[in-house]
Amino acid sequence: MVKATRATQLELDTAVQALRDGDVVAFPTETVYGLGANAQHAPALQKIFTLKGRPTTHPLIVHLDNRRFLHRWAREVPPAAQRLAERFWPGPLTLVLPKADRVLDLVTGGQDSVAVRVPAHPMAQQLLTAFGGGVAAPSANRYGHVSPTRAEHVREEFGEAVRVVLDGGECRLGLESTIVACLGGSVRLLRPGLITLSQLRSAVGEVQAGPAADAPRTPGSARAHYAPLTPLRLVAGGLIERQAAELAASGQRIGVLAQRPPLGSYRHVTWINAGTRPDAYGHDLYTHLRTLDHAGASCLLVQEVPADERWDAVRDRLARAAAAAHATDGEMP
Ligand code: TXA
Ligand code: MG
Repeated sequence: MVKATRATQLELDTAVQALRDGDVVAFPTETVYGLGANAQHAPALQKIFTLKGRPTTHPLIVHLDNRRFLHRWAREVPPAAQRLAERFWPGPLTLVLPKADRVLDLVTGGQDSVAVRVPAHPMAQQLLTAFGGGVAAPSANRYGHVSPTRAEHVREEFGEAVRVVLDGGECRLGLESTIVACLGGSVRLLRPGLITLSQLRSAVGEVQAGPAADAPRTPGSARAHYAPLTPLRLVAGGLIERQAAELAASGQRIGVLAQRPPLGSYRHVTWINAGTRPDAYGHDLYTHLRTLDHAGASCLLVQEVPADERWDAVRDRLARAAAAAHATDGEMP
């Protein structure tokens, strides 16, 4: 069934009232679902961290319905940021800018910068306009889990603990926004997303890739992020079927996320062919990881994706998920 992408007046009133009361509200964006709270209300922000199990030093993104309110949150909007906002908002881009005085430490993690985004999902737009202020929202998953791309994923993560969940159907893109920092005269890609480095460069010229040595903290760059619960291993395309077959032959249940169907048939292997198109692959990635988590496998084998930049966002999330499987640094939830 295709879900409505617009909320009813009653749903909207309930969600806005919850935000005004200092409660959290889960809502859809075109990337992933967010767990939102009034960005000006410290106790409400605290609830986000408690629910997610996320350290308060990890900053949140402030969501606005329109870029004309950007100056309320950023004390300075460099020309490059202005151009990126004009070109990509509303859309899957987050800008990190010098913060305005009013921005709370719980939003910025105590840093001097703030992350801001104008989402394109009609229901997110409805909520932000009706609320009339900034909504701070991380992805609506527990710390370290994969992001939710459907309302039922949010319920799976939080159950009754999150009372208001706006259901806007499946997220159109399925991977988190591209994050770009415009600080100290440079433009830097902090998290790859659907907007590629070439697209950013065509808008503003020079863009550095990856965090600077004196980088602001981004929890997305913690090794254990975007992880399914089952250990995940990246495997070259030519080896994946043999490895799956061998592990399965030793009696283990194995999950496979590949880009083609299997050649043989294996009783203890759950094989998902996610295809060769980067946009469709990215759209389905988190749903597939959740499905494979539920398959009761002891190990997930994921076929390595191509090197070209259209796969940057997917490759980044898979690398983090694989690293999480080996994490011993307490990052896992
Ligand atoms: O697509 C998205 O960006 C989704 C939807 C809900 O908007 N949100 C999302 O939020 O992915 P979250 O919290 O899961 O990831 C936000 C990332 C984190 O890696 C955080 O560290 C980074 O944004 N961030 C926030 N404020 C920052 C800042 N001041 N400097 C650097 N990174 C920042
Ligand atoms: Mg997240």
